[in-house]
Amino acid sequence: MRVIIRDTYEMMSKWAANAVAEKIKKQEKTKPFVLGLPTGSTPQGVYRLWVEAKEKGLLSFSNVVTFNMDEYVGLSPDDENSYHVFMYRNLFDLVDIPKENVHILDGTAIDLEGECQAYESAITAAGGIALFLGGIGRDGHIAFNEPYTPFTSRTGVRTLTADTVAANARFFGNDEGRVPKRALSVGIGTVMDAGEVMILASGRNKAHAVWETVEGPISHKCPASVLQLHENVTLVCDGEAASELSKDAVRFFRETETA
Ligand code: PGA
Repeated sequence: MRVIIRDTYEMMSKWAANAVAEKIKKQEKTKPFVLGLPTGSTPQGVYRLWVEAKEKGLLSFSNVVTFNMDEYVGLSPDDENSYHVFMYRNLFDLVDIPKENVHILDGTAIDLEGECQAYESAITAAGGIALFLGGIGRDGHIAFNEPYTPFTSRTGVRTLTADTVAANARFFGNDEGRVPKRALSVGIGTVMDAGEVMILASGRNKAHAVWETVEGPISHKCPASVLQLHENVTLVCDGEAASELSKDAVRFFRETETA
């Protein structure tokens, strides 16, 4: 695992936005760049920087195919709190991605399991995910894969823990009763199959999960800890998120950092 530590949220967002943009630019025109994407507070800085780069003519999404990590069960794509609306508002409506290149799970599908299986098939048909960008929960979840979700899990229906419901209530007028209790989510196995994984972590409340992911044992208790077994993972943190890492770890990652 590679860990990049930048002092501030703005600096870590800039590092991650540039790193992914460079890979998009390098992609051959004949083959789309298949990108997995998260929602939440943390990626918003990266999305803003991509939109700015697109406006300046420095980045194009015309050859990018995206697969979002998750969606709430029961929220229609035009619901204010759906991840569909989040993604179109923060990124897709503001860049030049062809609409047919965007994939987001449908939380209102009649057959939820069938929807999830079709999503896995669509990822395979697209040639697999080249880079999965993600966030991390305070409990170490990735996408909606809460602690003790099997590492081999595939896209499916998940039940949110009370901690995640409480954390996400801020998007629902701080009313936990309005937060859907189930979601469709890519599996941990789906994320592990990506050619590369980049996880963003910002703020003091992520520091323990970051420590567990980087220095803790690989354990179902912290789903992100399985990333220790992936050969191409970058965890991009701000200073607060990195604040529980040991001095040895910080020194190692600083000394060995390459662009
Ligand atoms: P956040 O969510 O970026 O809103 O903190 C991350 C997550 O829960 O995966």
